[in-house]
Amino acid sequence: MSSPAYEIDEMISAKAIAARIEELAREIRREFRDTEKLVVVGLLRGSFVFIADLVRELDLPVEVDFLEVSSYGDAMESSREVRIFKDLRGKIEGRDVLVVEDIVDTGHTLAHVARFLGNRNPAKMRTIALLDKPSRREVEFAADWIGFTIPDEFVVGYGIDYAQRNRNLPFIGKVRLTEESGT
Ligand code: IMP
Ligand code: MG
Repeated sequence: MSSPAYEIDEMISAKAIAARIEELAREIRREFRDTEKLVVVGLLRGSFVFIADLVRELDLPVEVDFLEVSSYGDAMESSREVRIFKDLRGKIEGRDVLVVEDIVDTGHTLAHVARFLGNRNPAKMRTIALLDKPSRREVEFAADWIGFTIPDEFVVGYGIDYAQRNRNLPFIGKVRLTEESGT
């Protein structure tokens, strides 16, 4: 089994990501400054790098938890049907929660997760996504904070994969399929 041949063109540098995270952290700190202990929920697996950098900039008492949801499988197409594979370990009722996602694309994932967690009656829930592709939206959903708005390109790196590869790139790159692909 091999995935199509492709190359990766840098779209957002590691430096630009770090600078943007500093800005976002400042706003988030302000939003949750009165929170006793914020629950930061990362959506696995794509957000693992982003959440690691974000919480280290927050300078707030935080608890970190994870939710694993279905996504693209190994392809470039969204499955649209969102499933929870791994639930939170902790309770969020009455707590302040920040949901951290890598990309909002069609919007199905975050809309579903917001409903799923909202049903547990957190005191306050906010969402942040590193990347937003508004042109791809199928269900109305707007995250409270967005790192970067990007065009309709398939991207990898900084936690984000293509068929489980390239998560460990330090920057965000766009996937360019090369000629040999298309089998
Ligand atoms: P949505 O439900 O269509 O908004 O999909 C969101 C999920 O699809 C994200 O959490 C990503 O895991 C995945 N996804 C969306 N766009 C890309 C991309 O360009 N590269 C890799 N994964 C993506
Ligand atoms: Mg994802």
